[in-house]
Amino acid sequence: MTADQAIRAKVQRLREQIEDHNYRYYVLDDPQVPDSEFDRLFRELQALEAGYPELITPDSPTQRVGGAPLAAFGEVTHRVPMLSLDNALSTEALADFDRRVRERLERDGEVRYAAEPKLDGLAISLRYEQGSLVQAATRGDGTHGENVTQNVRTISSVPLRLRGSDWPPLLEVRGEIFMPRAGFDDLNARQRASGDKIFANPRNAAAGSLRQLDPAITASRPLAMFCYGLGEVDGHPMAPTHSANMALLRGWGLPVSPELRVVIGLPECIAYFDDIGARRAHLAYEIDGVVFKVDSIADQRQLGFVSRAPRWAIASKFPAQEELTVVEAVEFQVGRTGAVTPVARLKPVFVGGVTVSNATLHNMDEVQRKDVRVGDTVIVRRAGDVIPEVVRVLPERRPAGTRKVELPAQCPVCGSDIERLEGEAVARCSGGLYCAAQRKEAVKHFASRRAMDIEGLGDKLIEQLIDQSLIEDPADLFMLQADLLAGLERMGEKSAANLVGALRKARTTTLPRFLYALGIREVGEATAQALARQFGALDAIGAAEEDTLQQTPDVGPVVAHHVHTFFRQPHNLAVINKLREAGVDWPEGPPAPMAEELPLAGMTFVLTGALSEPRDRIKERLSALGAKVAGSVSKKTDYVVVGEDAGSKLDKARALGVGVLDEDGLKRLIAGDFAGGVP
Ligand code: IVH
Repeated sequence: MTADQAIRAKVQRLREQIEDHNYRYYVLDDPQVPDSEFDRLFRELQALEAGYPELITPDSPTQRVGGAPLAAFGEVTHRVPMLSLDNALSTEALADFDRRVRERLERDGEVRYAAEPKLDGLAISLRYEQGSLVQAATRGDGTHGENVTQNVRTISSVPLRLRGSDWPPLLEVRGEIFMPRAGFDDLNARQRASGDKIFANPRNAAAGSLRQLDPAITASRPLAMFCYGLGEVDGHPMAPTHSANMALLRGWGLPVSPELRVVIGLPECIAYFDDIGARRAHLAYEIDGVVFKVDSIADQRQLGFVSRAPRWAIASKFPAQEELTVVEAVEFQVGRTGAVTPVARLKPVFVGGVTVSNATLHNMDEVQRKDVRVGDTVIVRRAGDVIPEVVRVLPERRPAGTRKVELPAQCPVCGSDIERLEGEAVARCSGGLYCAAQRKEAVKHFASRRAMDIEGLGDKLIEQLIDQSLIEDPADLFMLQADLLAGLERMGEKSAANLVGALRKARTTTLPRFLYALGIREVGEATAQALARQFGALDAIGAAEEDTLQQTPDVGPVVAHHVHTFFRQPHNLAVINKLREAGVDWPEGPPAPMAEELPLAGMTFVLTGALSEPRDRIKERLSALGAKVAGSVSKKTDYVVVGEDAGSKLDKARALGVGVLDEDGLKRLIAGDFAGGVP
């Protein structure tokens, strides 16, 4: 081999390595090397190409940001039109769609559908010739779109070259370009810092970023893409089903939604819709529904199209998450730690599937930034189970004479001074447990399910108890008598007796629960568990200095400071004593072995299906043994523990070859590990 050939071969090998890492990262979601290694390969290729410019090819991974800014986008004609979808806004509408499909296909049995999330971005067509990306175009009016090739080339998850060699010589794929939530938040933070335009939502941000005449700007925007269909294909047969076609695309290095599933008949469509709906808020990107497509391509052909939409597909949409309404007042709410939160009282509006009449404004910085005033028309947003929030004001609808919202100087509940520390966004009532609002929240937290788990002690009851001065602090709960409780609003003898029983039962608890129930700032369940494990006993935690506290896994200086301060306040110690005197008790032990010595240390479990005990209990037990419990299955999962009616998580575990255990199996695993180590 000559020296020239050696350089050529080296450049080729670097490109393949970089493409391979990109594929693992973006398509398989399973990177094999740290970013630093990827960067090193990339710089090496850049350096070689700088020395030998004649070796640069348009599809080299270094050539994503190439050309100069355009004066205007060119026009592209879509030989296969880019269609839209019919919507189904209810289960009935989805059932109608399924019925029409079966009737047209004269099918007696159930139809197989490919189900995938409906991404909230913008449609794109990518054209690959001989495996190289030659053109990217927006949907436009469906027949004529804009040529955005330069911009799309900058999106890292879009391959410039297809993998392998068995692709059709002409392959046009269709998909959605979108901006993942985290990238959207970063982008808006940057825009805010530089005084540039804030984007209302990831969809607008994606559209705005793609339609930049200067590709360098698009390159700086965190865009991503998933493919969901085919356009023109020539020279090579494709698969007989949509799902198999998507698998082919994936194999050629094109990103496809990992949520794609084949479901059979209406009931499985509904189950898929509900499952995605429940996980929607936790996905890395926004979706606005589910698209169901008849999986068989032959069936799709038979069904055909009506006007601009296929008869073989439907978009099942979630209820709208944003609506317009009017701010009727802005009030200030005092939370458990005294944080004073501005809350907008709204003209009630139906959004995200419920009627919303309050929305958080987070803090005064946000109020000022959004310039929300009483009387303003605003966009409210309620996403999943997230607290409704005011997204922005419509200034063009502002009536005359509105006044700015001011932070009150005194707590609206107890009249104590409101303090706002230098550099902190949050303002706090200085009243502490003197403030009835803080007392109420502290007791609500104490009684909550994940804390002391006092059944039948609801928020309304706690508010009555505090308002009527029947209790001052959580310890007083345990002195409550049935006859007094029975006289309260919405209580009777039966529920009073039940509550007294529940209080008696709640006295026996665990150290992590008790510690969490105390409501120490920044001490959530995980921190409470870590502290309990590290120290074994409450008094040991209370006596520890800040640096000793910091030896606990995941406890940093801020948490250590809050814990230390909490146990130095006489009124907190008094409440703890009172609780102990009232019979609140938990087993204590010696400090636990170091985390890595625990029998299940380093293992990750996922729980799914109906299990014989509450999930929290199983979770507590597993984490006490050193394991992590995750919400979704990935290659990093060691075991999926399945109960009755396990669904997609079990399928995913099987697909990934992850271990599957039933509850008995879990017990045996735990027992086996114990036999091998800790008694
Ligand atoms: S299929 C002929 N699948 O929704 C079928 N579309 O309302 C073409 N969209 O313009 C579309 N996610 O931009 C399909 N998984 C998905 C989708 C999806 C988002 C968008 C697409 C389309 C619009 C139609």
